[in-house]
Amino acid sequence: MENKKLAIASDHAGYGLKNFLADHFRKLGYEVTDLGTDSEKSCDYPVFAEKLADFIISGGADLGILCCGTGIGMSIAANKVPGIRAAACSDTFSAKYTRLHNDANVLCLGARVVGEGLAAELADIFVTTGFEGGKHARRVGLITGIEKREK
Ligand code: RB5
Repeated sequence: MENKKLAIASDHAGYGLKNFLADHFRKLGYEVTDLGTDSEKSCDYPVFAEKLADFIISGGADLGILCCGTGIGMSIAANKVPGIRAAACSDTFSAKYTRLHNDANVLCLGARVVGEGLAAELADIFVTTGFEGGKHARRVGLITGIEKREK
């Protein structure tokens, strides 16, 4: 189990899926930090995206999972934090290759897009797949350069 420490967060739309996945990974022996939200009461997804992104960057977890309605708002918000590479995925190929080629460190899932079964499969693939490195490391380095506005 390479990425043993996980962090997870959601807004109200992703609340049920977040709890399901937290439970799923705890049963598999992962250490899971749940950063909220704590109910289905309407809340703002950027708040939770930033909270999880900061937690990942500070070394609190190896990888993160964010759940909202589509997965897209969470990914847009999380990607504003330097060092975060968040990918919204709803197919297994993308979940695998965003780890292999992009070294994505946050998976974003849409609870209104995927069911619990597919979400668990996507998350399992994401957390058990490693970064391929090589030419992909150079490209990820170029992404880091964009964050710093290097030319
Ligand atoms: C909430 O209604 C919804 O907008 C949010 O969960 C997410 O899908 C945003 O991208």
